[in-house]
Amino acid sequence: MLKFAHKELVNWLRATDEVELRRLFSMADDVRRRHVGEAVHLRGLIEISSHCCRNCSYCGLRALRHITRYRMTREKILSCARKAVRLGFGTVVLQSGEDFALEAGWVADIVRTIKRETDLAVTLSLGERMSDELRLWRDAGADRYLLRFETSDADLYAKIHPSLPGRTSDRIAILRQLRDFGYEIGSGVMVGIPGQSYEILARDIETFRELDLDMVGIGPFLAHPDTPLGAPGSQNAGAEQVPNTEQMVLKTVALTRIMCPEANIPSTTALATVNPMRGRENGFQSGANVVMPNLTPSPYRQMYEIYPGKTCVDEEVEQCARCVRARITCVGREVGVGQGGRQHFEAMA
Ligand code: 5AD
Ligand code: SF4
Ligand code: FES
Repeated sequence: MLKFAHKELVNWLRATDEVELRRLFSMADDVRRRHVGEAVHLRGLIEISSHCCRNCSYCGLRALRHITRYRMTREKILSCARKAVRLGFGTVVLQSGEDFALEAGWVADIVRTIKRETDLAVTLSLGERMSDELRLWRDAGADRYLLRFETSDADLYAKIHPSLPGRTSDRIAILRQLRDFGYEIGSGVMVGIPGQSYEILARDIETFRELDLDMVGIGPFLAHPDTPLGAPGSQNAGAEQVPNTEQMVLKTVALTRIMCPEANIPSTTALATVNPMRGRENGFQSGANVVMPNLTPSPYRQMYEIYPGKTCVDEEVEQCARCVRARITCVGREVGVGQGGRQHFEAMA
């Protein structure tokens, strides 16, 4: 099996030669085909609450921003889940800021109801919640949990993701716990965070592999002008700084596919935001096999502004689903059917 040593990862991350990069993307495409096949799985994203108690220095939902926030009702969330079924999606992802007013029992009831009424896989992405809450949701039937560790570098992490008083943030420890509870686990990073070096990004990819992640989400850092990291002048541009370009994201996706051959890897909305014409397709052709169309209804969807300029925010859900299917088939791939969970290679061979 193909596997890169640390030095090789760093060299590939620095590579810019078009011919060399075509070779990398085609290697990744090959690994993707052999390990997860031609299907691109659809996950419907429901952004259930924009409240957040954290102050990540890159994120538009950080607590210190004075913005209008919302929480969706149980009925609205369930009606989005039913729409996911009608649109032929196999999974819904319930995502929010870290919102402790989303009471654990209330979330558990929604998970239980979706699992009872539909064949959907349920993925949660609700931040760093208490371990008894995570266990409760797993017992209620939640299948997967997403929690990006954002960067493997402890100093950079401390800068961009301040801990809550009296609670150190250890997302890797939480991911291990989620795995013990029986979840499929997903994580990921942003590419091009100010202060992120090639060495750090290579370590991120190695960490994906060490954790044997089932899902890995990778998108460019997109400066939000109303956050500390997005404020004009806060970007440094030393030789070691990883740029937040499409090409840099595609290299990271490709290397992640090669290092984690079985993982489900989305072609992210943030990637499509830096290249609305072809970002998603380029992701599919560099190792990605998942896409997460946004199911959040208006006006909430416009209010969930993690970064500005997010693609598809003003599209109808039905239109976006059609568009995404066309983008999948246009690059010669198939739209996945069923839940599209992790497949273990032995089972495929
Ligand atoms: N640019 C790109 N991605 C961002 N995220 C949060 N803020 C930004 C930003 N400014 C990503 C984080 C988070 C995910 C839900 O969105 O990686 O985990
Ligand atoms: Fe909250 Fe997540 Fe944004 Fe951090 S990245 S401020 S935890 S929504
Ligand atoms: Fe959303 Fe095209 S992918 S409208």
